[in-house]
Amino acid sequence: MREILGDVRLVRGDLLDQGSLISAVERVQPDEVYNLAAISYVPMSWQQAELTGEVTGLGVLRVLEAIRVCSGISASRSPSTGQIRFYQASSSEMFGKVRESPQTEQTPFHPRSPYGVAKAYGHHLTQNYRESYGMFAVSGILFNHESPRRGAEFVTRKVSLGVAKVRLGYERQLRLGNLSASRDWGFAGDYVRAMHLMLQRDEPADYVIGTGVTHGVGELVELAFAVAGLDWRDHVVTDASFIRPAEVDRLCANPAKAAGELGWEPKIGFEELVAMMVEADLKLLTESGGHAEDWFGSDAW
Ligand code: GDD
Repeated sequence: MREILGDVRLVRGDLLDQGSLISAVERVQPDEVYNLAAISYVPMSWQQAELTGEVTGLGVLRVLEAIRVCSGISASRSPSTGQIRFYQASSSEMFGKVRESPQTEQTPFHPRSPYGVAKAYGHHLTQNYRESYGMFAVSGILFNHESPRRGAEFVTRKVSLGVAKVRLGYERQLRLGNLSASRDWGFAGDYVRAMHLMLQRDEPADYVIGTGVTHGVGELVELAFAVAGLDWRDHVVTDASFIRPAEVDRLCANPAKAAGELGWEPKIGFEELVAMMVEADLKLLTESGGHAEDWFGSDAW
């Protein structure tokens, strides 16, 4: 962690604690605020629905209020120039049971989990603060974005770690849920670039960020095992305990607005991303003698 942090200065703040966010904004006097904080693991949002609403939904309100109060903005007093710019991490999970494909900034929402509902609240609220107070507040509607730093509970990393464990002889099986769901998976590094670009615009606006290409979980699994020279059919077991109460079957972005207005496009494709993650986990487990999984908690995911 320390190597990654470098010269970054940490300031404490809690999305459940309005005062802590006001203090943080007062202390730092930021030019830009990126709210990437959330309870972000979708299955957890059924187990802790109220907490998800508080953190992932109302947390956005508290950050916006901290910025508004510290900037001295009210309904009768618009922000002056040099205002704090705000980025909200909205999610493709808001599209849920999709009304059209591919999804654009105009596609109606139909969230399928307490997480998706909370994200839709944060999205609308960000838009509302922009319209009510003239704040530079924008949302990036990001589709799934992955890297070797992804948490082990999410399917891409669960698969890349699982492949590495099988390849190195630590496990024989990988237990997964719904293999027929499809996602538009991109590389997180590309998506961070998009977030930054959104806050450099003259006018605030929301953008869909994704690759425009969708793949099944089954395809992900097949490719990841193939990268390690393995056949997935020898190792993958379907486990009903990973099936969600309501599933988002298929997501696919239309990132045309981001391409046209931000000049943004992803540089890393699906095949390269999967190979990058599998190779990183093979290296990690080899160098740690197989103990790296201890860092990621139990197999409960
Ligand atoms: N996690 C997980 N574990 N997912 C599985 C498994 C499994 O064992 N088996 C199948 N899946 C399927 C899920 O049912 C889902 O359809 C798909 O794999 C992707 O699941 P996740 O990787 O957990 O991601 P997500 O799509 O639910 O949500 C992620 O992307 C959103 C959009 O950017 C999260 O990062 C969200 O926080 C984010 O908003």
